[in-house]
Amino acid sequence: MAELFYQLLGMIGFTHPLHPVLITMVVGPAIASFLFAALAFFFQKPDYYKTSRQLTVVAFIFWFPTVAVGIIDWIHFYGGSNNMVEINNKLVLAGVLFLVLFGNIMLFKAGQKKPLILLLLTLAATINVSLLGFYGGEIVFGKAAPKSVEVSAEVTDAKAGGFKELKQDGYDLAWKIYDGQIDVKLTYETNGWVGFGIGKTGAMEGSHIVLGFVMDGKAVVEDHFGVGGTNHSPQTKIGAKDSLTARGGSFVDGKTTITFTMPLNTGNPNDPVLVEGETFKVILANGGEDAQDLESYHGRSGRIILDVKL
Ligand code: HEM
Repeated sequence: MAELFYQLLGMIGFTHPLHPVLITMVVGPAIASFLFAALAFFFQKPDYYKTSRQLTVVAFIFWFPTVAVGIIDWIHFYGGSNNMVEINNKLVLAGVLFLVLFGNIMLFKAGQKKPLILLLLTLAATINVSLLGFYGGEIVFGKAAPKSVEVSAEVTDAKAGGFKELKQDGYDLAWKIYDGQIDVKLTYETNGWVGFGIGKTGAMEGSHIVLGFVMDGKAVVEDHFGVGGTNHSPQTKIGAKDSLTARGGSFVDGKTTITFTMPLNTGNPNDPVLVEGETFKVILANGGEDAQDLESYHGRSGRIILDVKL
């Protein structure tokens, strides 16, 4: 149902989260409601209580669609990930906001003659929407947001086989280019899946993705392609070929490593053609503990995006 909704929006070119469009209709009126209550209270302008109350009603009405699309945005863009502390906080805050706005409306209706309570309730709503905005901002721009960092690779010594290597945020990525192909090793401290994506934009859509996990000593490593902002599919399911010429993996000391080899030019029309010395956007991701499958969502905090010169 929600997917159909986003597909319809996508048809008119709207592919962004919908929640940010509506939040203004809760945040603005809630803060303005406090300002009018404060003017009424401190400057003895009783008419402004009415304005304050009307603004509270607007915030209350828009609470419903805002929370509803917040939840479906979370499901659609963040896979409903329950590793997101920001979402847990927002759910609690949204519940409290409901009570504060509803309480304010009810007290006013009951002819509440103690405007201090109304003032305090509008203040509580203002603080609450500020916190909701803060945690929302944390999702979009904070530590949960994907990072983009320029990294310089070190060429390790000949003993290690001339691999270039970089370490970032717990990921250890090493690669070697020779004879028109690339060997890749990716390690992360998890018993779940780890993934590597490469392309020109850093978005999953359009990136060539290889991901895998190790279970009972056996590595499962697959060649995928990013078919959407949050979806990837095995190459073989989208009419392309699996171009890994070698694949493997291990789980040692709590760390999963996947290894694979593929041609720089896989011949699949959508895969980026890799060129030594050129900079690509590399996505490194993990599915978290126990994600021994290739579907568990990584959430926003489970991936980083790097500019890597091959
Ligand atoms: C009325 C209550 C809420 C308000 C006022 C609010 C406010 C905000 C704000 C200000 C942002 C930042 C938007 C941006 O910087 O682009 C945000 C983002 C977000 N919020 Fe809420 N929020 C509310 C409730 C919820 C709830 C209940 C959920 C889901 C459980 C939710 C999920 C999200 C998500 C997923 C984002 C990130 C959207 C993106 O990727 O652009 N919000 N919210």
